[in-house]
Amino acid sequence: KRIAVLASGRGSNFQAVIDGIASGFIPAVCVGLITDNPSAYAIERAKRAGVPVTVVDFREFRSKQEYEGALLDAMKGCEADLFVLAGYMRILGQQIVHVFSGRMMNIHPALLPAFSGLHAQRQALEYGVRVSGCTVHLVDEGMDTGPIVLQRCVPVLDGDDVETLSERILAEEHRALPEAVRLFCENRLSVEGRRIRIR
Ligand code: GRF
Repeated sequence: KRIAVLASGRGSNFQAVIDGIASGFIPAVCVGLITDNPSAYAIERAKRAGVPVTVVDFREFRSKQEYEGALLDAMKGCEADLFVLAGYMRILGQQIVHVFSGRMMNIHPALLPAFSGLHAQRQALEYGVRVSGCTVHLVDEGMDTGPIVLQRCVPVLDGDDVETLSERILAEEHRALPEAVRLFCENRLSVEGRRIRIR
């Protein structure tokens, strides 16, 4: 399979996918990184792995529609079977969600449907939950609402702050995301309404 990754920042989840491919765990090639941030560290990671980079910088467009048109073109240009959102910090427009329906995955640092949106780890701490974790889900029109592929949980410990909890969750993200991508690439996921069956 051909997979493309969208990332806005550090790109450690992108790296986990690259490493999963390099080790043979994920039967795929990574055909592109698309980023909205020209200074994303993910770009360095892509260069090191020989993955072509496309920057679609929101600030270079006059309107949201123009930006989304350019992003759609960049995504189509990848000819990917799967698009992985790995810390992509912009909400995708309806058209993009529709065009790539069923073949876009996102990783979120909480156990959805709890704590969707930004600062999920801080939300979890403020709520006082005793467990949190990460969720890999397919992308639909909503914000962090699509069918769930995988979740992994971690304890929330007394004395945790946003940094320590985020670090513990991130370690699980780096397991969950390559696993979910692998399941997709092996054609082992089927969507039945809201629920995903894993074969
Ligand atoms: C991760 O916590 C991911 O769940 C969230 O943004 C963060 C990205 O980290 N959506 P990285 O860029 O993959 O290192």
